[in-house]
Amino acid sequence: MKEPQLIEFKKIGSPDLGYISVAELGDQVPFEFKRVYWTYYTPNHIERGGHAHKKLQQVIVAVSGIILFSLEDKLGKKYSFELKKPNQGLFIPEGFWRDIKFSHNAVLLCLASEKYLEDDYVRDYEVFKHTGL
Ligand code: TYD
Repeated sequence: MKEPQLIEFKKIGSPDLGYISVAELGDQVPFEFKRVYWTYYTPNHIERGGHAHKKLQQVIVAVSGIILFSLEDKLGKKYSFELKKPNQGLFIPEGFWRDIKFSHNAVLLCLASEKYLEDDYVRDYEVFKHTGL
């Protein structure tokens, strides 16, 4: 089974000039992305996520602020990641339950392997744990 893992993107620049990081097909992102979305202004008492995806793979970047990801596979193995560097991405394979917390200034950028499809979501934790995705 594929595992969630951190990706270090190149950081081009210097403290004096600022930086550019780049995600290109075939270079660190292990799938072709068909969709990009971003979320912002999430109050920090709100927990988002609360679902798994059947097929979707993602790379998530905290382009600003701090984002905490709690992930769990169907066998109950848990992972947690604190994203706080804009040159760092989190690869999430298909099939992981996620809960997400944000600092208020956080901007989450997602590269997604598929277009939006509500049918790809599993939003019931018991269904996620007890049925094949
Ligand atoms: P959802 O993925 O459940 O958000 P989160 O995991 O951040 O809590 O999406 C929230 C709502 O936005 C849901 O009604 C579906 C809609 N949405 C789209 O229409 N297109 C998209 O690409 C995404 C990611 C969400």
